[in-house]
Amino acid sequence: MKKTILIALTAATFALTGLNGATFAKAAPNEAAIAGFGGYDGLMKINLDLVARVKANPLIGSLFKDTDATRLATLLSDQFCELLGGGCTYTGNDMKAAHQGMGIKTHHFNALAEDLQRAMDAAGVSQSEQFRLIGKLAPMKRDINDQ
Ligand code: HEM
Repeated sequence: MKKTILIALTAATFALTGLNGATFAKAAPNEAAIAGFGGYDGLMKINLDLVARVKANPLIGSLFKDTDATRLATLLSDQFCELLGGGCTYTGNDMKAAHQGMGIKTHHFNALAEDLQRAMDAAGVSQSEQFRLIGKLAPMKRDINDQ
């Protein structure tokens, strides 16, 4: 009996953390809508990769030098999941308030968009799914950029 409980507990622990600890255990209400991105876990992996890429990007990296990668990746994953119809709720600041005074111009915006494309390519996201997300993000440019 004790052995059964131990096996059940071990199985539950693996289900939550994954063998490599890479599972984020936060299923979206509508995982099907974000299946092309590998579900919520896939979005987290893409956004952690994105944050690593922008931190290393000579054009925009200095803006992210003090950024907590897990916090920003979680906010981005919630936001992308919501935009894609995954039923998540984004709880961060609105795009205007979040980016005010950073002096973001078109070339900075494009640098981040290219890093996002690289992160999605690396995760094997199809072109059509990439366009579906980019199409939702592109109109935000007017709130993010400093004219
Ligand atoms: C469509 C494009 C973009 C989206 C969807 C986006 C989304 C976000 C989100 C959700 C946050 C977190 C807001 C919060 O803390 O409540 C954030 C923060 C931030 N964003 Fe963006 N962003 C975009 C473009 C950019 C660009 C082009 C830059 C600069 C090159 C930038 C720089 C930053 C910085 C520095 C932060 C603060 C990070 C921190 O908390 O340390 N973002 N962005």
